[in-house]
Amino acid sequence: MSTREKFEIPGRVAIVTGASGLLGQQHTKAIAEFGGQPVLVDVDEKGLNQLAEEVLNIYGINSEIHHCDITSTEELINVRDNLVTKFGRIDILINNAAVDTKMADTMPTENRLESFPVKTWEHELSVGLTGAMLCSQIFGPVMVSAGKGVILNISSDLGLIAPDQRLYEESSLPTNKQRVKPVTYSIVKHGIHGLTRYLASYWGDQGIRTNTISLGGVYVNQPEHFVKKLERLIILGRMADPEEYRAAIIFLVSDASEYMIGSNLVIDGGRTVW
Ligand SMILES: NC(=O)c1ccc[n+]([C@@H]2O[C@H](COP(=O)([O-])OP(=O)(O)OC[C@H]3O[C@@H](n4cnc5c(N)ncnc54)[C@H](O)[C@@H]3O)[C@@H](O)[C@H]2O)c1
Repeated sequence: MSTREKFEIPGRVAIVTGASGLLGQQHTKAIAEFGGQPVLVDVDEKGLNQLAEEVLNIYGINSEIHHCDITSTEELINVRDNLVTKFGRIDILINNAAVDTKMADTMPTENRLESFPVKTWEHELSVGLTGAMLCSQIFGPVMVSAGKGVILNISSDLGLIAPDQRLYEESSLPTNKQRVKPVTYSIVKHGIHGLTRYLASYWGDQGIRTNTISLGGVYVNQPEHFVKKLERLIILGRMADPEEYRAAIIFLVSDASEYMIGSNLVIDGGRTVW
């Protein structure tokens, strides 16, 4: 097989959780562009339908759509059974879904550690960590029975370093009202590395490669004061464009990365180098 061919994933059944979101859409398009069979999983049904239509228009590929909450074992088992009946296989799982409040969404003051609600903690951990574990638990054994598969867990620069809360500061607000990146985001994105290493060693000898990709922040019209401060912390001097991660995603889910397991690929414009 040529090196170029190793990037192709013809007909491979590839699940993307959180597919309707900003980056889930990009991962899905990478899969479709390289010949894979996208399986879109999200709680946002409208977003799923829009994405499936776009993928059909651009790539001529029909996506599988599953309106599913990844914190529900029952709903995930349903998805698995549908996929096994229809395709007889699952080749790729991208654990992408997480609760990631965008700066532009004006993060609530209650995000501050002193007042952080346990309910929010439980919800965000249940999507970002429990959800990723359940998807692996339920879809992984289908890959194991085929002796081949890839799990890709999505982390962040904030899975490697602490959030610099000065980035979110607004001079008009008193200290106790300043917005902060919530503690849950750090915990979830750090925890993803543990899940990757666990799965890599647990199923590595059965043909399942699990890796992490740690992404830097994507520019989505965040407030100028935030962007300017963040850009100074990034060696390349800018936030990422949403499409810029597609090539790395396809590398990690295809045979191009066949000798890579339990690793973390950092693509953050140099944010974590300094
Ligand atoms: N956007 C960034 O700048 C950035 C940077 C680094 C890492 N990441 C990571 O990339 C991933 C995707 O981020 P994003 O920016 O696309 O987020 P997003 O909020 O745009 O998308 C997340 C998607 O997950 C879905 N979702 C939430 N709860 C769910 C559940 N219980 N079951 C199924 N689906 C659920 C949402 O409906 C949404 O479509 C996350 O893991 C995030 O931590 C994002």
